[in-house]
Amino acid sequence: MSVLAEIKKPVEKEMAEFEVYFNKTMKSNIPLLKIILNYVLRRKGKQMRPLLVLLTAGLNGKITESAYVAATLIELLHTTSLVHDDVVDEAEERRGALTIHALWNSKIAVLVGDYMLSKGLLISVEKSRYDMLEIVSEAVKAMTEGELLQLQKARKLNITEIDYYKIIISKTAALISACTATGAKSVTEDQDTLQLMKDFGENIGIAFQIRDDILDYESNGLTGKIVGNDIKERKITLPLIYSLEMASGSDKRRIMSIVKKKKKTKDEIDEVIRYVISSGGLEYAETRMNGYRDKALAILDSYPDSDYKTSLKKFVYFTTSRNN
Ligand code: IPE
Ligand code: IPE
Ligand code: MG
Ligand code: MG
Repeated sequence: MSVLAEIKKPVEKEMAEFEVYFNKTMKSNIPLLKIILNYVLRRKGKQMRPLLVLLTAGLNGKITESAYVAATLIELLHTTSLVHDDVVDEAEERRGALTIHALWNSKIAVLVGDYMLSKGLLISVEKSRYDMLEIVSEAVKAMTEGELLQLQKARKLNITEIDYYKIIISKTAALISACTATGAKSVTEDQDTLQLMKDFGENIGIAFQIRDDILDYESNGLTGKIVGNDIKERKITLPLIYSLEMASGSDKRRIMSIVKKKKKTKDEIDEVIRYVISSGGLEYAETRMNGYRDKALAILDSYPDSDYKTSLKKFVYFTTSRNN
């Protein structure tokens, strides 16, 4: 059994229920939308966010319909953010297939993203779960801010490690924190618990994005995305931030002159990757990532033992060891 399948065990039934909800919302009568929504549905992601919503709900109480609503809403917004992000990042591949903007065009990708976003908002209104909508809307706002800050830093190429955390907390950890916040909110009103679960998700989310950024340097062939896309897009992430910080003046100038180029050859991108690897950038990022992983685990440790807790523990370890 895959690690994820094992993690899913305590919420297997609920995950199946979530999928029914999710598939129902990904429907339209407009022919072009129908084709594209099907294309997206056939290439499922890891579905880590709905899994996190349901496990957190289970950890804190009894799973109810509002957890499905939150899980569906969040997976829809996540999917939207990927479709839009691939336009912004000019990424050609996602989940092992061509991206929507590569296969159709960016106008269509933007509109399909908007459609999925509105479907997500609608189901929470239909089910009158405004509390879920509020938590998730805050996350969407943060995500957009994070992506814009990242774009601004890519233009000026003046990113610091502090900026990096600011960006990833907004663009990635906010939504993952919304998973644990909505999961908890679906079963409890206790403010301390809600805050604790929000922090739990934020730490997982930061570790999640650092792992994603490391994967952009590791050619493992399993991510379904193209390696080195961050460098191509002038995105300086934690491994490179560290390597540049440690570099001599001449190395720094050489690497930055490649990163700055509008068009980079494969050899140039490979040179940056090799430089980061040889100067310990990946190890540094891993150490920082494990720090956030351990903070998440410490929060989990304050709970009594249960199947949910065991699965969440594995979820946290999977986040930082995953190869896809
Ligand atoms: C990718 O998220 C986007 C990031 C925040 C790094 P996932 O790795 O969860 O994407 P899918 O849904 O499994 O494809
Ligand atoms: C996460 O950043 C993007 C979103 C929050 C949508 P990345 O740009 O690194 O994500 P990938 O690598 O394209 O999945
Ligand atoms: Mg991207
Ligand atoms: Mg990435």
